[in-house]
This record gives sequence, C-alpha cells and structure tokens, in this order.
Amino acid sequence: MIFRDDVLRGKTALVTGGGTGIGRAIALGLAGAGADVAVASRKVANLEPVAAEIRALGRRAAALEVDVRDSARVEAMVEACERDLGPLEILVNNAAGNFFCPTLGMSDNAWRAVTGIDLDGTFFCSRAAGRRMVERRSGRIINISATLHRRGFPGMAHMTAAKSAIDALTRTLAAEWASFGVTVNAIAPGPIVTEGSQKAFLMTDDLNSRMGREIPVGRWGRPEEVANVAVFLASKAGDFVTGAIWTIDGGEELGKIPPMLGGAS
Ligand code: NAP
Ligand code: COA
Repeated sequence: MIFRDDVLRGKTALVTGGGTGIGRAIALGLAGAGADVAVASRKVANLEPVAAEIRALGRRAAALEVDVRDSARVEAMVEACERDLGPLEILVNNAAGNFFCPTLGMSDNAWRAVTGIDLDGTFFCSRAAGRRMVERRSGRIINISATLHRRGFPGMAHMTAAKSAIDALTRTLAAEWASFGVTVNAIAPGPIVTEGSQKAFLMTDDLNSRMGREIPVGRWGRPEEVANVAVFLASKAGDFVTGAIWTIDGGEELGKIPPMLGGAS
C-alpha cells in the first residue's frame, strides 16, 4: 500500500469496467484507501470476484450490471449505487471497448460500438453522477483517457476520436462544475499490461518485449500504477486539481531513446 488506508474513509466510489484490468486495480486501490466501492459493467461474472476482494479489505461493495451506452440503465446504476452504498463521491469512467479496424472497413456499428462505450458512456455516467454531486457541492470525476489519440494511430479512428472527445469533455465539465465543488480530471495511460489491451492491440510476446524496450523506462506499466494516480486525485491531495489530464506512460510520449544513447535500434 502506498496510501494510508483511511484517506478515503466514508466515501463511496463507482468504477465502470471495474471487473477487469485497470478498472479492477482502481477499484481495489480506492477500497484499500478506505472507500466503499461499486463496480459496474456488462458481465456480472467479471464483477463479483472484485466485489468479494473489496469486502475482504473490510469495505462495502456492490456489483452492478450496466451497459454504459444506455442512459436509462446508467441512471439506474447510479441510483442502485447510492441505495446500496450511500451518496456517490467518486466516479471513475473507465469502461471502454477497442479493436483494430482500418477506417475504410469500419461499419457504422463498429464505429458506434466504440464511441458509444467510450464517449457516450463517459457522458451519461458523468451527467447522472454529476447532477447529484453538483447538488451536494462535492464530488470527484476521473475519466480514463489514453495517449494514442494525441499523435494519431492507424486502425483506431473510433477509439482516438472518442478519447480526444473525452479530453475535451474533461476540461469542459471541470470548468462547468468547479464552483460546485466537483473536480473533473483524466488519467492518460500509455501501454499498461491488461488482458483487454493485449487482445485489442493484437500483442504477442515478441511485440511486448520490443515495445517494452522502446519505452524510456524500459517496460510496460502496471494497472496498480494507474490506480495510485486515481487514489491521489480522489483524495484531499487532489483538492486543487481540476481539468488536468495526467499522463502515466513511462515516458513513451517523449519518443524513443536514440540508439547511440543506448536505446533499441
Ligand atoms: P479491459 O480490462 O478490457 O477494460 C474494459 C472494461 O470495460 C471491461 O471491464 C468491460 O467489462 C467494460 N466494458 C466494456 N464495454 C462496456 C459497456 N458497454 N458497458 C459497461 N462496461 C463495459 O481493458 P483495460 O486495458 O483495463 O482498459 C481500461 C481503460 O484504460 C479503458 O478506458 C482503456 O481505453 C484505457 N486504456 C488502457 C490502456 C492499456 O494499455 N491497457 C492504455 C490507454 C488507455 P464487461 O466486459 O464486463 O462489460
Ligand atoms: N474488427 C472490425 N469490426 C469489429 C470488430 C473487429 N475486431 N469487433 C467488432 N466489430 C464490429 C462488429 O462487426 C459489429 O459491427 P456490424 O454489426 O456492422 O458487424 C460492431 O463492431 C459491434 O460488434 P459487437 O460484437 O456487437 O459489439 P459489442 O457491443 O458486443 O462489443 C466491443 C463491444 C466490440 C467493443 C468488444 O470489443 C468488447 O466487448 N470489448 C471490451 C474489451 C476491450 O475492448 N478492451 C480493450 C480496452 S483498451
């Protein structure tokens, strides 16, 4: 544990896509710091084990089935979260879908599947939670963005467009809700090892080790490292941080280390 186990005591958090990968690590990180945590996604089978891990930490937990593309179901999810765990203080918009698909072969549904989960989902969840947070004049919203959209990434038109819009939404909601005591920030992970990202990016062992060498710190990131940033932003330490997009990528965005300085050629 990096953080004390009481920095979020008494707070209720909701993490979408909290049953796997980065979302699971964030849910456990928030619970480890003292929060009661609801995890929400389409597959309850993904959620129940994480809810059990949260309870094993001595916190209350809820596993909520939702498709974040459906605003009525998102409203019901936030209501259920508050009924089970109390007023929602921390929302983490982490749910996403992704797959490689050249633009000229991308169907309407393929575009909608990814932009619907990533962007519409982030908006619907932020609106449902934000309404309650603004009324109570207290809340934290943390959006999980990315870094790829800043440089353009072939085969990822849907995901890069959605993540760019999430960055814009982060800044706008931060400005709109700052005077109501609600902070809105984003975390922009670089390459983080998860089953989902390995599948979406068609990774192999060889590609993993080649890519790892090209990241200045020399390795992929871990979900727990993203979770630590989320706990910081959710805690009192984040009181004066809003509209920020916090990159956590081992320096990947800085570019490769030149070969004459020891980088991979
Ligand atoms: P992941 O494990 O596949 O996470 C995606 C989660 O979203 C799953 O738990 C999935 O759960 C949920 N989900 C998908 N569609 C949903 C829907 N319609 N409604 C509700 N939940 C839905 O992948 P990850 O790598 O941890 O990614 C987590 C976040 O980090 C994403 O926002 C991703 O874009 C971002 N990110 C990851 C990386 C990386 O390298 N790993 C880099 C940059 C950004 P169900 O299947 O149960 O619905
Ligand atoms: N390439 C091209 N098109 C694809 C595709 C692929 N690899 N995967 C799905 N699609 C298309 C489908 O063909 C469909 O379009 P169509 O009706 O015109 O044929 C559309 O996308 C929707 O597919 P569907 O399987 O119904 O989507 P879904 O809503 O059930 O699932 C996904 C959502 C597609 C995003 C799925 O990848 C998913 O569940 N991902 C979650 C995990 C994940 O991606 N994690 C990575 C996070 S970085």
